[in-house]
Parts: sequence; C-alpha cells; structure tokens
Amino acid sequence: MAGTYAVILAGGKGERLWPATLARPKPLLPFGGNGRTLIRATYERVLPLVGAEGIYLVATGELAEALGAELGLPPEQLILEPYGKNTAPAVGLAALLLGARDPEGIMVVLPADHRIEDEEAFRRALRAAARAAEEGYLVTLGIRPTYPATGYGYIEGGEPLFTAEGYTVHRARRFVEKPDRATAEAYLSRGNFFWNSGIFIWRFSRILEEIERHLPGLAAGLARLREHIGEPSFAEAVRAAYAGAEGTSIDYGVMEKAERIATIPVSFGWSDLGDWHAIWEVSRKSPQGNAAANAELVARDAKGSLVFSLTRKRVGLLGVDGLAVVDAPGALLVARRDRAQEVREIARAFAAREHDWPELYRLDTGGMLGAIEGFPEQCREALERGRSAGLPAGLKGFTRICVVGMGGSAITGDLLGLALPGVEDITVRDYRVPDYIGEETLLIGASYSGNTEETLTAFLQGLGRTRRALGISSGGKLRDLCRERGIPWIGIPGGFQPRAALGHLLFTLLGALEGLGLRAEGLEEALDVLSRMAGELSPRVSPNRAQELAARLWRKIPVIYGATGTTAPIAFRWRTQINENAKQPAFSAELPELCHNEIVGYELAGELFPGIVRVFLRTSRDHPRVALRVEILRGVLRRRGLEFLELRGEGGGGLAQALSLLYLGDWTSAYLALLNGVDPTPVAPISELKDRLAREPWDPAAGP
Ligand code: PA5
Repeated sequence: MAGTYAVILAGGKGERLWPATLARPKPLLPFGGNGRTLIRATYERVLPLVGAEGIYLVATGELAEALGAELGLPPEQLILEPYGKNTAPAVGLAALLLGARDPEGIMVVLPADHRIEDEEAFRRALRAAARAAEEGYLVTLGIRPTYPATGYGYIEGGEPLFTAEGYTVHRARRFVEKPDRATAEAYLSRGNFFWNSGIFIWRFSRILEEIERHLPGLAAGLARLREHIGEPSFAEAVRAAYAGAEGTSIDYGVMEKAERIATIPVSFGWSDLGDWHAIWEVSRKSPQGNAAANAELVARDAKGSLVFSLTRKRVGLLGVDGLAVVDAPGALLVARRDRAQEVREIARAFAAREHDWPELYRLDTGGMLGAIEGFPEQCREALERGRSAGLPAGLKGFTRICVVGMGGSAITGDLLGLALPGVEDITVRDYRVPDYIGEETLLIGASYSGNTEETLTAFLQGLGRTRRALGISSGGKLRDLCRERGIPWIGIPGGFQPRAALGHLLFTLLGALEGLGLRAEGLEEALDVLSRMAGELSPRVSPNRAQELAARLWRKIPVIYGATGTTAPIAFRWRTQINENAKQPAFSAELPELCHNEIVGYELAGELFPGIVRVFLRTSRDHPRVALRVEILRGVLRRRGLEFLELRGEGGGGLAQALSLLYLGDWTSAYLALLNGVDPTPVAPISELKDRLAREPWDPAAGP
C-alpha cells in the first residue's frame, strides 16, 4: 500500500540571521519552540504522521551530516545534493529516489527551518492535503495572511473542492510573486489570497509527471539517474543530473504552470523566521516585550528587544528599545529590530573583508586608485580651467553639440548630454559624422592623447560641415590641427590614462561652455557628493562599499543596466571601466529596451549562465514607468533565482545622482581589478592594437 513520506529540504545561507549563522546553519538554531532546534521541531512535527522511517532529508554533504546527526537519521534517509541548486532539483531527486520504491506514495515537502505553533492543526492540514494528493492534486498549504506582507509569494484560492479534517481544500487559481505594498493590501482585503508556505503535498508520480512537462533539463537528468540508483556510480550521476537541471524553485518551475493544483488555507501560527524581527515575534517575552534566548538578561528601562547569545552571555540592556542583540563566537550584532531585513548587508560587508585589501593595494603599481581618489579635485580644477578658457563668441548660435571621440574620451560626450539637458547632444564614436551635421552644430573633437585616428578623421570631416568647432586634448595631432586651422583648442594636463582624465575632459568643457551661455545645473552639489564619496571609498577606509560591491561582482560577469536618458551612459562607463581596469568581460544594457528582448534571455539564464550578476543603476529622475518596470523585473529575477543588485545615485539633482553612480563604478572596477590579481592601469591590448594600426599609416585628412 502507498505510504506517506516527509522530505525535509535544507539549504540557504540564512544571511539575515547573521552572526548566528556564522556559527551554525539556521536549522540548528534553537528556535523550534521548547528549546528545540528548528530541524528537530520540523522532524517531530511530522513524526506522528509518517513515522521515523518515513522522514528524509535533502541537503549538501556537510549540512546533511550535521542535520542528520542532530536527528539521528540513518544514512539511507539522507539524500545528498552535490551542491544547492534551488528547490526543483532537490524535489526531483527525492521524488525519483523514493518514488522508485513507491510510485503512488505521497510526498510531503517541508522546509527545514520554519516554525509552526499549533502542531496538531498542522498535521490535520497535512492529512486533508494527502487526501487531495491521492486524487491527483498538487497541494500547497496557504497561510492566511495576517498583514499585507511583501516578502512572500501568494496563492490565489479558487472554488472549494471538499472538506476534510476540518479544513476546506480549494482549487488554486494561480501562484503570484512577491507583491508591492498596495497589491499586498488588496490581496489581504480580498480574503482568497494566501501566503505560499513552501509546504507541498503530492504523489511522487504526479510531481515527476509535471517535472517532465515543465522542466525538461531536470527530467532528462532524472531519467538518466534512474539506472544508477543503488550503484556506486550514483553520486557522480547525481552531479551530472544537477549540471543539466534548471536551477529554479519548484514554485516557479512547476506550480505556476501545473494542472490540478489545490491549496488549503491554514492559520496554525506559521513563520519562516526569516530575520531577527521574526524570531522576536515568536519568542516568549517579558511584560516589557524583551525576549532573551540562551542569554541571561537584565533589562532596565528597556523594552521590545531580542537578545540571543550562542555563548550564553549575560546581557544588560539599559534605556534602549526595539533592538536585536545577537552574540556569536567572535561576532556581535546590535541592530534596530525594525531594520532586521538589512542585516544581510552587514553579513555581506564582513564577507568582503575576507580579502586582504592592504595586501591587494600593492598590485596598483600604476596608481589608478590615487587617480580615482583625485577625481573630485580634478573636476574642480578643470571647471576653473574651462571657465577661463575664453571661447570666441562666434561659436554661439548652435542648437546641437556633437562630440567626436573614442573610448575614455568619448564618454565625455554622453555626459555632456546629461549635464546640459536643454541641448541636443550626440556622441560620434566613428570615422564619420552623420550627414545631418551642419552649421547649427557645435563640433567638439575630444581625444585625450590627441592622436586617435577615428576622432581626427571624423573631426576633419565635421569641419567641412560647420565652422563652429573646438578641440580638447592633452596635445598631439588634434592640438596641431586646431592651431594650423585657427580652431579654438583647450589643453588639459597629460600623464593620465584617458579614462582617468574624465574630470579634465568633462569639467573643462562644462566650464568653457558657460562662456557660451550654457550652464549645467547642480554642479556644486555634484562636486560635493563626489568629494564626500572620495573620503568614503578611498583605500584608507577598508572594507568600504565599493570593495563590498567588487567582492559581489568578483568571478562573475556583470551586466549593468541604466535607464535611457538618465543612467544609460553611466552603465556604459561601468562596463568599460570594468573591462579596462579589471580586465574582464562586462556588459551594459538599457531600460526600458531590455523589457522587449533581453528579458527573454532570463529564461535560461540561471540554468546555463549562473555566473551573471545584474546591476541596476537607479536615480529619482528615471521615468516613473521605468521605475515601475524595475519593480516588476525585481520579481521576475527573484522568482528565477537570478542574482541582481540595485544601486541608487546620491544627492537630489540629476547630475549628482548620475556622477555618484559613475564614481562608485570607477572605484568598484579598480577594486575588482585587485581581486582579479591585476594592476588596473595598463591597457596592453589597446596599445598593441594602436601600434599595429600605426604600421599601416592613415591620413585623417584623406577623408572618411
Ligand atoms: O581608455 C583608453 O585608453 C581608451 O579607451 C582611449 O580613450 C581610446 O583609445 C581613445 O584614445 P584617446 O582618449 O587618447 O583619444
């Protein structure tokens, strides 16, 4: 006869429960009630239902060993994953193994680290669910929401199917991703939306059938695995199956698309104990609302705090409210309880410290870090230089600016457009200028060296179309050409890498254009923000935010997203800075365009290209619909388990926000270079290419 089996899934880093999870994996923390660990509470909760032989654990090697030891599980009840790859492969693996013996058996999938207050009610719900599973339904327990949570996915309940054990089983209409606040409020008032508990009940045969239908990579791997069951080759075969499996959650990979899905609305005191606030909520508290776990607490004039110690500390709280104080061997957290979600950032900041930064600074023999630190000063100096440049009034009267330049110099053109939103601005990175360039255009030849052939060629071509022109360089042929033809030329200091001379190029031009009646808004604010950032991100402050970011991007391929019209050129600068400083691939793309093509590339991204990390650059000046698109994309990325970061510009003005993001990228790219073990400064392939081209002389005056 078919039996019932509990399959406990253990994984996840528990970053929000730092620093306790440094010392112990979350399932081994003692928050299961009555002093039990979470994993023991999970085990005991299902024990009366399935018996000790019916409980299986899926985890990776070390974790499986530790949790198995805590539960006294025999090795045959441990299902080992080669590495964590989200819940779908874990469920598939367990279903294959257990289903091989008992295909019509019922599988109860349980996260290892949730808390449930009314355990008897929980078991009754599982019995009701098992009845629905026997009828072929894929069942999820849906938690009746108690507040408009934005941190959980929801299930929309449909018509009732039947009642058992005091519970009504409903058809499930759909699974929906984590909502924003307004949607969550609407769900709460509708009454038929429930939190997705991550607890699932189904027949082995049914879930395997749905995996076959919706996750072909996983299904193919499982099919090949079948013949290795019980053989010494099994572990190796699991590794191969995982390699080809979709790294997705069972919710997203199967439940959102499957047929015959049902939900049972429950309210038995459930919590996923995601952060210290959630732990405080379920803890026994003093009349003042203080909770102490594993610690001896004396509180005076203090309320609403959680104190947890893994080293059994005596803790005194005096005159403080609403804190989470968590002590682990070698680490201590003191946080406002209402900001518990952000503890993850602290965990990541410490992870970045694992790198020996002072040692890494030695790689910077070309002095790129110093050049980046000097950027705000460079900008100020350049602004003054530009203001005293005294461009001839005859240049006035243009309606468009066209900057011709390449690489590190060309970005100046993009940024001029951001700084001077009232003027049409185009940047030409080519040998030719567009046909529509004419007298109404102010042509600017920008080349740091003054010797770049594309720039010189396009500039000369443009000179035939407009008499409004100027050049900017540290010298070179551009200077000579301007002098010969009596064209205004502005000299900037030499000795930098072109990309590190951006302040000289951009701010000199901004200062000079003021003389022609063009004033950038928010210059002072932007410069103040940059100066503050130089202090915060310099190598003397370590680890700093840019170093943490570099650590997150390390050994990944970053794709940087900017919004067209605001941060798109900044995203491009990030990409090129990562290329040139860190000497590694990086890409950039734009919103809203990505929603019309690139988003489809997310389909297989996690599975085939897990090493990509997406970085969204955001400012308050982004179009409101673009901001909404990012909100939606966030959900899409989360559901697919795709890694992403969001970075916000600093300051109020558009220029400050854009340049602060740019500056953060410059720092991050240089620190990433050090993590990659390279000196950020040299760009050997660019020099080699230029040398090679120089062997085949090109006369820019010969025409495009
Ligand atoms: O960063 C670099 O070295 C390059 O991108 C250069 O800027 C590019 O080759 C153009 O040279 P220049 O800036 O001297 O015109």
